[in-house]
Amino acid sequence: MSRVLTWEKQNLISIEPLSLAEIQTIFSLARYYKEGTESGQLKFDALEGRTVINLFLEPSTRTRLAFEIACKRLSADCISVSGGASSLSKGESLKDTAQNIVALGADVIIMRHSSSGSADYLSKTVDTPIINAGDGSHAHPTQALLDTFTLTERLGDVNNKKVTILGDILFSRVARSNIHCLLKLGAKVTLAGPNTLVPKEFEAMGVTVSHNLKDALEDADAIMLLRIQHERQTSTHFPSIGEYTTSFGLNERRAHWIKPNAVIMHPGPINRGVEIDSKLADSSNSVILEQVKNGVFVRMAILHLCHAAHTKTEISLPK
Ligand code: CP
Repeated sequence: MSRVLTWEKQNLISIEPLSLAEIQTIFSLARYYKEGTESGQLKFDALEGRTVINLFLEPSTRTRLAFEIACKRLSADCISVSGGASSLSKGESLKDTAQNIVALGADVIIMRHSSSGSADYLSKTVDTPIINAGDGSHAHPTQALLDTFTLTERLGDVNNKKVTILGDILFSRVARSNIHCLLKLGAKVTLAGPNTLVPKEFEAMGVTVSHNLKDALEDADAIMLLRIQHERQTSTHFPSIGEYTTSFGLNERRAHWIKPNAVIMHPGPINRGVEIDSKLADSSNSVILEQVKNGVFVRMAILHLCHAAHTKTEISLPK
């Protein structure tokens, strides 16, 4: 017996166009790959003979490696290109770069770029599946999907669970994508941090904005910490890093406010001792490395689905 997965989107640019059913489809396929891998199957043939280009025009450790590993597990050939090593640094446009990558035979393009909107632009430029690995402060959809997948594993169901996102919301693509994904899954989202980085205007998205850290933390089922995105800020939004940590860092004193089994999350990279104390990052409440591990399975699912939509190939899973 098998069941066929329904999927029609060849691009993953942001969370907004995904339905709840589509998010559940990604989770089902990610779970299939996770269970298969954990029972000893290290290779799957879904992308055998295909070429995936990992175009990373901003630094990355987790996302880039997770995509590379996901491609290899799916039997694809994966080639990673970084900005400084490409002819973009000689003035070639993104459109010409993409068209050349397609001419070279790419079956899927994964891109990280510092400009918001670049992944959407690329998806309208070439007819090859585009997966957004983070564009400016706009979106990081695969991060949100792996975060919510991890949360679902830990909490069972996030419907009606309170998730507090603490830190630099204003410049965070991770926060934006997570807000959309968590709300679709029925979670109650609270945003906390300095009012310069967490303006009340975010409430229009359907979340609660709290500038009282104790209120934001004390009944949360999960707390997602974010680092300060210095690379996107053109002016400072609080007096100093030390003062940010004093007012908003998750330290051992504030940890007494949280529920004993509250899940602690962070997309990484962590700035230990700034937004989170080392002891808490390494505590049994923390799922930070579980998030990283799940990043491979969620990205295997996304690569498989987007490629299948493009080639109009059916995906069936054992029931
Ligand atoms: N979370 C995340 O995007 O990490 P990297 O920048 O290391 O890919």
